[in-house]
Amino acid sequence: MWGPEGLDEVEAELLGPPEELKGKDVLEIGAGAAQCARWLAAQGAHPVALDLSHRQLQHALRIGGSFPLVCADAGALPFADGSFDLACSAYGALPFVADPRLVLREVRRVLRPGGRFVFSVTHPIRWAFPDEPGPEGLSVAASYFDRTPYVEQDEEGRAVYVEHHRTLGDRVRDIVASGFRLVDLVEPEWPAWNSSEWGGWSPLRGALIPGTAVFVCERD
Ligand SMILES: C[S@@+](CC[C@H](N)C(=O)[O-])C[C@H]1O[C@@H](n2cnc3c(N)ncnc32)[C@H](O)[C@@H]1O
Repeated sequence: MWGPEGLDEVEAELLGPPEELKGKDVLEIGAGAAQCARWLAAQGAHPVALDLSHRQLQHALRIGGSFPLVCADAGALPFADGSFDLACSAYGALPFVADPRLVLREVRRVLRPGGRFVFSVTHPIRWAFPDEPGPEGLSVAASYFDRTPYVEQDEEGRAVYVEHHRTLGDRVRDIVASGFRLVDLVEPEWPAWNSSEWGGWSPLRGALIPGTAVFVCERD
């Protein structure tokens, strides 16, 4: 699943036709509980699920699946050059790092020539709107161009949650500067069947403004 709209890989085929995933080495970045890696394994691929959070990987382990789980930072991938055919990330790592080019260069390094990296993030336009599912989430309340990160702190003032904003142009420049070719930018539309609200995502907002941006990149 690429985002809260409900676009899944069976429908989108952004990693290629599912029948061609068989035997492919695939790295999932910011895997969380490794839902994507589990689906990839079911298609006959050889996924590796990577996440910075040991706790998230414990959830992945509990749910199960016969693929490796790796606890590491996406900015320092513990793999040899050219180890994977494909890489994917659904809202993993990239929205949370101050230096996305570091991650993109690392992903490029571990991909084989011709390899594809598909990643989704919150659509940058959402930065300008309050993160509310109702009508209050439809009025611009902040500057789209303000790159100051969103930070939540604990009582001691330590950052416990950080999100970094990049404009659409920033993302394109990061991708190209990291040695990738941008093949597609998918902005999933909110489908009629999806009546669920989740955080700031809702049918109301989904009908009017994009919520997810999926970048399809290739290593030449
Ligand atoms: C919003 S969750 C997405 C999880 C999963 N991909 C999904 O679709 O449910 C983001 C994940 O990225 C991980 N993450 C954040 N920064 C990371 C980094 N620098 N390296 C690796 N993983 C990171 C978090 O631990 C978290 O599990």
